[in-house]
Amino acid sequence: MTNIPVQEPERQYYYIEKAKEYVQKAAKEAGRPLTFCVTTFGCQMNARDSEKLVGILEKIGYQEETVEEKADFVIYNTCTVRENANMRVYGRLGQLKRMKKKNPHMLIGLCGCMMQEPHVVEKLKTSYKFVDIIFGTHNIYKFAELIVTRYESQRMVIDIWKDTDKIVEDLPSERKFAFKSGVNIMFGCNNFCSYCIVPYVRGRERSRNPKDIIREIERLVADGVVEVMLLGQNVNSYGKNLEEPMSFAQLLEEIEKIEGLERIRFMTSHPKDLSDDLIAVMKKSKKICKHLHLPVQSGSTEILKKMNRRYTKEQYLELVQKIKTAVPDISLTTDIIVGFPGETEEDFLETMDVIKKVRYDSAFTFIYSKRTGTPAATMENQIPEDVVKDRFDRLLKEVQDISAEVCGVHEGTVQSVLVESINDHDDSLVTGRMSNNLLVHFPGNENLIGKIVNVHLKECKGFYYLGEMD
Ligand code: SAH
Ligand code: SF4
Ligand code: F3S
Repeated sequence: MTNIPVQEPERQYYYIEKAKEYVQKAAKEAGRPLTFCVTTFGCQMNARDSEKLVGILEKIGYQEETVEEKADFVIYNTCTVRENANMRVYGRLGQLKRMKKKNPHMLIGLCGCMMQEPHVVEKLKTSYKFVDIIFGTHNIYKFAELIVTRYESQRMVIDIWKDTDKIVEDLPSERKFAFKSGVNIMFGCNNFCSYCIVPYVRGRERSRNPKDIIREIERLVADGVVEVMLLGQNVNSYGKNLEEPMSFAQLLEEIEKIEGLERIRFMTSHPKDLSDDLIAVMKKSKKICKHLHLPVQSGSTEILKKMNRRYTKEQYLELVQKIKTAVPDISLTTDIIVGFPGETEEDFLETMDVIKKVRYDSAFTFIYSKRTGTPAATMENQIPEDVVKDRFDRLLKEVQDISAEVCGVHEGTVQSVLVESINDHDDSLVTGRMSNNLLVHFPGNENLIGKIVNVHLKECKGFYYLGEMD
């Protein structure tokens, strides 16, 4: 018997080799290479996690298949931030069951935030017995090991950890884009906003070591990446728990020094922790993009208090003013929840007032969704559906009207644009992203993908531009 390494990531590289043998054997039986399809629900954290799953799957010999119905291994990386994200997964699982009956090599894996909820796993165990592997958010690095366990046991494999203090570095991952990448700087969340399930399913806040972050970005840059998106539920509290504490502003200054890196983005910023130092760094930086996502959630101080957001309407507006003064061409975006328990018409109008005062480039608007286990779920005065729907429609209209106006102000200017893809509808055009996160379509070909070029913005089409290279 071989000695299985105890240390990570060595242990996982051992299991990757072992899984490869099983996959090769199965492919031989099938008479063709085996394929996988990873579907991601939810936020950028999950998207980044999926890249890690794909990296492992490719290392063990699976090939990517974009059509889910054709794949031998289907993985859903799930989200549970709102109830509708949950329902979609159950619906699609029903279809997978039928596919599995036809394909003897088929495996189904479920992971991500939904799996961290015990009632979900119970339901899967009793009503979805055809699922092969279930794991959570804390142990995705063990994917190869779980695949080996599944091959060896021939039974449903479940491995969920309640929380972790572990961060495993240096595992394979496969980027979706050659020229840009998400980079985790921290995991988990300690804020416990009263409506939010994330702290329960992602665990306590842990920051990665700055050296590991810098090394990862340097490697990405050497591999052709020009833009990074630093990821965390609350990037502004980065570094507080490190052995040698470091602020997010300091981390940004270190990342700025990386030669060859052109653009830095980050999300998400919690208003309560956004420091003057960060504003100063954004003001002088040549690489940080002119875009800040600053979720307000509600404009009513009363509701913000019940949400446990720890800022008032006035503090939020002051912060916005400070940022706009320091970085005048900044684009601001936000998240808003409508229909939080106890929200009155007056509270709602306070939210509308914030929208009118800040004039966001865009806003993600959500109907409050009750998440079992959160404090808000048991609060009194849950708002009736018709009232919420009415407020939601009014909010959406206001948000859209303003963002069409705000978006239009750049018409006639020349902007630097990172070309991301060939246009979906017209292949004589390419689509690129400006520093402020707006999209522009202009004539070009695939050689431009991944390059930063100057584009003259000829016409605003509401939420995007048509342009021409300068
Ligand atoms: N960490 C980020 C948000 C992550 S969740 C932050 O603090 O900004 C993304 C968005 O989903 C939140 O900003 C919030 O607007 C929304 N959201 C979270 N829980 C929700 C719920 N229970 N109902 C409706 N929207 C919710
Ligand atoms: Fe959820 Fe609040 Fe944490 Fe964001 S900061 S993930 S909204 S608890
Ligand atoms: Fe969803 Fe989990 Fe992200 S609940 S929003 S995928 S952290």
